[in-house]
Amino acid sequence: MDWNSDIIKNLSWAGTISNRAGKQRVADQIVSKIKEGDVIGVGSGSTVYLTLFAIAERIKAEGLNILAIPTSIEISMACSKLGIPLTSLYEHKPNWCFDGADEVDPDKSLIKGRGGALFKEKLLISSSPLNYIIVDDSKLVDKLGSKFPVPVEVFPQAVLHVEEALKALGAKDIVLRLAGGKDGPVITENNNLLLDVHFDSIDKDMEHKIKAITGVIESGLFINYSIEVLVAANDA
Ligand code: 5RP
Repeated sequence: MDWNSDIIKNLSWAGTISNRAGKQRVADQIVSKIKEGDVIGVGSGSTVYLTLFAIAERIKAEGLNILAIPTSIEISMACSKLGIPLTSLYEHKPNWCFDGADEVDPDKSLIKGRGGALFKEKLLISSSPLNYIIVDDSKLVDKLGSKFPVPVEVFPQAVLHVEEALKALGAKDIVLRLAGGKDGPVITENNNLLLDVHFDSIDKDMEHKIKAITGVIESGLFINYSIEVLVAANDA
């Protein structure tokens, strides 16, 4: 593959990362946890990207042998570009995994999925015995849903049924995620649609209630998962 092609070179996030120094510090903490032979699940987002760059440096410097299980095509391409070998959940169970988040509440419950990879992210976190969530402190909230809606991945033909069922669960505002803001709906890697759902309040059962709606593939609510949260102070 030609990694200098115009298509591929836009993958690098350069210049668009908020609180880069803080994110770099949590990225470095993750990289220091890597041991020879680890199989590592890799989430998505800019903090994950910074971590991949730092992992690639350790691989180059120490000849470390590790394998990465990616959560999206974008992360697969980034790993390949950086020389980080890939594997899949068919071949390996992860020893541990790292990922970012959009919101983290005081109980370490999360909203994720701004990047649309929530189904594979949840699959990986559920498959892994140890999970690190890496965030800057702008992601800490008192209450889930304060800053971000809950992304819900939906089988396309089910979208009207799911909309109705979400309203019955108390959804206040439901927005179909559009590509580039206007060019038709975002289609996920699993060929589904994404709804961004605003709730006034999110109770502890909401993840299961949403998942129980026929046509819902997954939601970006991660309530009471076994995770460790690493937080970087915001420099700004
Ligand atoms: C995408 C996610 C990301 O992890 C989340 O959006 C955090 O991104 P960033 O590290 O860029 O702030 O859940 O599905």
